[in-house]
Amino acid sequence: MSKKVLVAYGSRYGSTEEIARAIGEILEKEGLKTQVLDLKRTKQKEWPPLASFDAVLVGSGIKIGRWTDEASSFLKKHAGELKTLKANGLVVGVFVSCGLAVNPEQRQEAQQKYIEKILTEIGIKDAVDTYDAFGGVYDLSPSAPMGFLDKKMLAMGAKQMVKDGTVTEGARNDLRDWNQIRTFADHFVDLVKNTGKEN
Ligand SMILES: Cc1cc2nc3c(=O)[nH]c(=O)nc-3n(C[C@H](O)[C@H](O)[C@H](O)COP(=O)(O)O)c2cc1C
Repeated sequence: MSKKVLVAYGSRYGSTEEIARAIGEILEKEGLKTQVLDLKRTKQKEWPPLASFDAVLVGSGIKIGRWTDEASSFLKKHAGELKTLKANGLVVGVFVSCGLAVNPEQRQEAQQKYIEKILTEIGIKDAVDTYDAFGGVYDLSPSAPMGFLDKKMLAMGAKQMVKDGTVTEGARNDLRDWNQIRTFADHFVDLVKNTGKEN
């Protein structure tokens, strides 16, 4: 029987959503039965039971240093269960999409600030098998899917990147490294295929 994976994500402007869906497609192609769950649009009572999966991957976008409330609630709510299921072979992965990880030299810092810190706070760092910080989208176009204040904040945060030519003013800048995402997905597939959940 094919193994089951839950990819649960929280995304404010769509970048993490696209990453979650792309990873979901890779997992499906590798023969894993994958459910991709939008935590912002799904009520907590409709979250599927983790015990029915062989692996769980949780992703969030970052805004002012913070995960989406829904994705952090998901981890907090399932902290105890994740640790118990992990001991029984559940594979657990985490990722974020953020501006800091755009520069490969700052990816480790992004992992520390946006992943390791929250996992330690929630007390589940040891329950997580693999994690990574991916770059994000800097949508500086007038039609960016965000409110006035968020646009202002993003423009301020992107000032240096405009100066050094990393992003273009007035445009949607996709700074995600799809090879990095692919490598992470492949590694996750290996972990799921090679880890046996005792039934
Ligand atoms: C208002 C705003 C604040 C942001 N704050 C941060 C931040 O503190 N650190 C960071 O690395 N990236 C920051 N970013 C960049 C986002 O993390 C990036 O755009 C990411 O792709 C968003 O993911 P999402 O589209 O799934 O929400 C910010 C973006 C916006 C629009």
